[in-house]
Amino acid sequence: MRVIISKNYEEMSKKAAEIVAERLRKKPDLVLGLATGSTPVGMYKELIRMHKEGNLDFSKVKTFNLDEYCGLSPDHPQSYHYFMWENLFNHININPANVYIPSGDIENVEAFCKWYEEKIKEAGGIDLQVLGIGRDGHIGFNEPGSSLTSRTRIKTLTEETVEDNARFFEKKEDVPRYAVSMGLGTIMEAKECLLLANGANKAEAIQKAIEGPVSASITASLLQFHPRAIFILDEEASKNLKRREYYRYVERMAQKLKER
Ligand code: GLP
Repeated sequence: MRVIISKNYEEMSKKAAEIVAERLRKKPDLVLGLATGSTPVGMYKELIRMHKEGNLDFSKVKTFNLDEYCGLSPDHPQSYHYFMWENLFNHININPANVYIPSGDIENVEAFCKWYEEKIKEAGGIDLQVLGIGRDGHIGFNEPGSSLTSRTRIKTLTEETVEDNARFFEKKEDVPRYAVSMGLGTIMEAKECLLLANGANKAEAIQKAIEGPVSASITASLLQFHPRAIFILDEEASKNLKRREYYRYVERMAQKLKER
């Protein structure tokens, strides 16, 4: 597990974008797992900038999003479909046929979830999965108590998550109560995971995810079992980490090794 602590949101976003860009330059047909929420917006802006400057080609990339609210059509402004086109896809040269986002407004959810898992497999698996984290420690919409081996399925959101996401809706009552989310088993099969977190309201969840016991109560803690997990944090989100200075030292030492 690598823990990178950045000065602020801007630096966190840049570092995350650099990692994505580096993986993409190495493998032009990268399979990218993507996340929504306010956290990755800065990273998406940075990737768009790199693309516009001619440094990043998405023409062969396939993307799979983590989740989607149930009951919202893809053109609903609060849907994750809408979010992804607005914040990333409309501004890069991705082939729309290579974009996969869970559907939240179909009848046979179970069949859809199976199909989604199959599509990930057919693509050769996810190379790099971008993640945010909820205040209750969730990744995707894998709320506390999710099976640690779960696959894509429908989840009931906690009250805390509904409250947190209410800021994007006119009123709390408009926030969907269910979502379709990749499971923890699905996420853990990604070859690499990159979790971004900023702000003091994520500090507790981050401390538990990185330094607490692995537990379904903080689903991000499962990443401790992942062979290639990177956490990129800002100062505030890192403030409760007990080994904060050690993580900084490790990064400095890794840099020294590179420069040798
Ligand atoms: C939602 C999403 C998560 C995201 C989380 C945090 O619950 N399903 O993928 O990580 O919100 O959102 P934010 O980045 O806005 O804090």
